[in-house]
Amino acid sequence: MPVKNRFAELLPEITEWRRDLHEHPELLFDTHRTARVVADKLREFGVDDITTGIGRTGVVGVIKGRTDTSGKVIGLRADMDALPIHEQTGLDYASKTPNAMHACGHDGHTAMLLGAAKYLAETRNFDGTVVVIFQPAEEGGGGGKVMCDDGLMERWNIQEVYGMHNWPGKPVGSFAIRPGPFFAAADEFEIVVEGKGGHAAKPQETVDSTLVASHLVIALQSIVSRNVDPVLQCVVSVTSFETSSKAHNVIPQRVTLRGTVRTLDAGVRDLAERRLAEVAEGTAATFGARADVRYTRGYPVMVNSDTQTDFAAKVAADVSGACDTAPLVMGGEDFAFMLEERPGAYILVGNGDTASVHHPEYNFNDEAIPAGCSWWAEIVEQRMPAAG
Ligand code: NI
Repeated sequence: MPVKNRFAELLPEITEWRRDLHEHPELLFDTHRTARVVADKLREFGVDDITTGIGRTGVVGVIKGRTDTSGKVIGLRADMDALPIHEQTGLDYASKTPNAMHACGHDGHTAMLLGAAKYLAETRNFDGTVVVIFQPAEEGGGGGKVMCDDGLMERWNIQEVYGMHNWPGKPVGSFAIRPGPFFAAADEFEIVVEGKGGHAAKPQETVDSTLVASHLVIALQSIVSRNVDPVLQCVVSVTSFETSSKAHNVIPQRVTLRGTVRTLDAGVRDLAERRLAEVAEGTAATFGARADVRYTRGYPVMVNSDTQTDFAAKVAADVSGACDTAPLVMGGEDFAFMLEERPGAYILVGNGDTASVHHPEYNFNDEAIPAGCSWWAEIVEQRMPAAG
């Protein structure tokens, strides 16, 4: 079964919504206009129940199937926010806001989920309930987490949840997915090595923080090479080394190290965080110094559930003829928070030969809309088949 005919009919209309969103990008949680447009459209489609202000500016819509003997509730999620980039596409519907741009295609994600909501509300050809989730602040604000913290999953009794992202460089309308870890956790650390400063010609009277921190930079690499299982992925990078004194003749009191840890496994992430503190504190103690470690967790590893991934891949193959195995992605994605709370799957849909996401010349490819909308609709109709 190829893309649904209804979405070929709706394509001009959905394209118009997408381009309107593109022209009016909003950052992080400031997606006020976008949320208003989304809520107005859901109302116009006859969606049963619409709630705004979840996760600050998120919108949730409920669409009931013709019957509900299954008792199933499926969440479908799109992100609404843009990026602080100055658009350079030259499009006639380019961003009207300086230094704000839909450079990650969230305009397309929102429009596609709206298209699916319109179709599902007019056909209701399923047995159960669909919850459409429009979230703010995917690009760094953790809007997905804030929506979950607002009780998204419990309040609407969501049992499984699905997400989609466009993917430049992949043929338009084709799909790719992988089970298990998919997008990486990206954490940050800062280590302050406190020694005892003094005269550079009298090292015996000091605790040399520069020497301690140098040992530490090397010792930290033992986390990846000696602690982490070699078949699993982990990156520990020290990216900044800052001494408290820049003089030739002063041994600095303190050195600040900064860096990042990337992992694709929750256990490896815990291990890296724990070892980072142990190695830093232990190395500092060896030399009579002290290390204060601050480890800040960013988005967690995004893990696709096996059953839902198999199902999502089958639906994608139904829509576009095949579904590829996606590569691991070392970038972060805050749909990870939703997948921590409920089983589900996140899929990539091809954006064709365009600039990469987060590039000032990027644009979402409207030709992907029929495939994307069809995948959403088929997820619902196949997971909760109409009774009789
Ligand atoms: Ni994105």
